[in-house]
Amino acid sequence: MSSPGKAELIHVFKGIPFTTRSSPELLKSLDNFDAREDDVLLVSYPKSGTHWLAGVITKLYKTQVTLTSPIEFGDTSKLEELDKLSSRRIIPTHLDYNMLPQNFKKKKCKMIYISRNPKDTAVSMYHYYRDNPNLPTVDTWTAFFDLFLDGDVVCGSWFDHFLSWEEHKNENNILFLFYEDMKKDLPKIVKDIAVFLDVKISDHEIQDICKKSSFLEMKTNTEKEKSHPNHTVCALTSNTKLVFRKGTVGDWKNYFTPKQNLRFEEIFNEKMKLSNM
Ligand code: A3P
Repeated sequence: MSSPGKAELIHVFKGIPFTTRSSPELLKSLDNFDAREDDVLLVSYPKSGTHWLAGVITKLYKTQVTLTSPIEFGDTSKLEELDKLSSRRIIPTHLDYNMLPQNFKKKKCKMIYISRNPKDTAVSMYHYYRDNPNLPTVDTWTAFFDLFLDGDVVCGSWFDHFLSWEEHKNENNILFLFYEDMKKDLPKIVKDIAVFLDVKISDHEIQDICKKSSFLEMKTNTEKEKSHPNHTVCALTSNTKLVFRKGTVGDWKNYFTPKQNLRFEEIFNEKMKLSNM
C-alpha cells in the first residue's frame, strides 16, 4: 500500500494548512467554544518548545489540572470532551491569534505564547515531517526549507503566526516567552510563569521543577508513560523521538547553507519590519 499523499493528509482552512486530524467542522465550530475564566492557553507555532512549557506549567500547580490535546485537534466531539473536564484546563493550541475562539479573548483567559528562533524551528519541523506518517513526505532539507519559507507547512507561515500574537503581547492576560530564554535561565522563567499564573512557589520548588523539566528527564519520562496521542500536546504522533529530538539552540547551523541563510535573513527582515523582535 502506498503512503498517503499531501491531499489526503492536509486541508486548507482560512488560508492555513491543517492536517486532516483537525476536521473542518471542528475548525468552523471553534467560535462556539465555551471558555472558562480559569482556562490557561499554551500557544505556539509547532516545534517551539510546547511540550517543555506544558511540562513546566503542569508541575507548577498544586491543585489538579488537566493538560488537553490541542483545541484544534479532532472532530466536533472535541468541544463536548473539553466541556466534561472538571479540573482547570491547560489547553495547547497552534492557532494564530485571529483564529483563536472569541470566548478566550472575551473572558481574558491567561495565555502563554512560546516562540523560538524560526531557523531552529524550521530544522526541528523538518525532522518532525520526515519521520511522521501523519504528515506529507519531504525528501530533502532543501525542499522543506522552501516549503517553510512559503508557509506551505502545517499551521502556515511562522512569520504570520508570530506577528499575529506579537501584536497582543503587552495585554495583561498574555505572557510572551522564548525557548532560548528557557534554555538560558529556566529558574527565572519558571518564576515569571508562576507570578503570571498567580501560583505561590518556593525557590526549592522552582529548582525541583527545573530538574524534572530537563530535556533528558522529560524524554525518559514520556517514553515510559506511552501516553495516547489524543491526550498529549503533540496530537500527531506517539513517537517520543520525534518530539524530544535534540533540545538545543543553534542546530540550524548544521543545516542552513550560507545561501539559504542569506535568503532566510532577507525574508525575515522584510516580514518582521514591524516587529519588535
Ligand atoms: P528539536 O527538534 O530541535 O530537538 P514542540 O514541543 O513545540 O513540538 O517542540 C519540540 C522541540 O522542543 C524539539 O526541538 C524538542 O527537542 C524540544 N524540547 C522538548 N522538551 C525540551 C526540554 N525539556 N528542553 C529543551 N528542549 C526541549
